[in-house]
Amino acid sequence: MVVPGDGRGRELGFPTANLALDEGDLPEDGIYAAWVRIDEETHPWASSVSVGANPTFEGDRERRVEVHLHDADLDLYGRRLAVSLVAHLRPTLRFDRVDALIAQTADDVVRCRMLLTDHARISP
Ligand SMILES: Cc1cc2nc3c(=O)[nH]c(=O)nc-3n(C[C@H](O)[C@H](O)[C@H](O)COP(=O)(O)O)c2cc1C
Repeated sequence: MVVPGDGRGRELGFPTANLALDEGDLPEDGIYAAWVRIDEETHPWASSVSVGANPTFEGDRERRVEVHLHDADLDLYGRRLAVSLVAHLRPTLRFDRVDALIAQTADDVVRCRMLLTDHARISP
């Protein structure tokens, strides 16, 4: 279920949907490529997913799952997302500067796109 985040993602250029999940249901921290279905839709969106406590921003202590859908700017509050993690790209890092986080996230999205294109080709 998508719940409000801190509203910072849009400012960074990468809006994310924050998921309400119990700690026990969370995968290992890190950045992942994923296919995401909204509610009962069959068409999956290619996505980049962050799992962790956003250590770049002090005060963010709760681990959470955040989903950035590629090429989509949708209001997802209250919708249910089914997230299939396809590949783990890297660990969650603490950046000294927000610019560095933005540059790294842009690079992550490019890598996720390539991984998911290949993944769709081998397992449609
Ligand atoms: C692909 C991707 C990679 C991310 N990598 C990191 C990271 O390494 N370190 C970090 O502190 N936050 C990372 N984030 C999370 C951002 O800090 C977070 O999305 C942003 O602060 C917006 O949070 P909000 O939705 O609660 O406003 C990443 C987010 C995405 C989408």
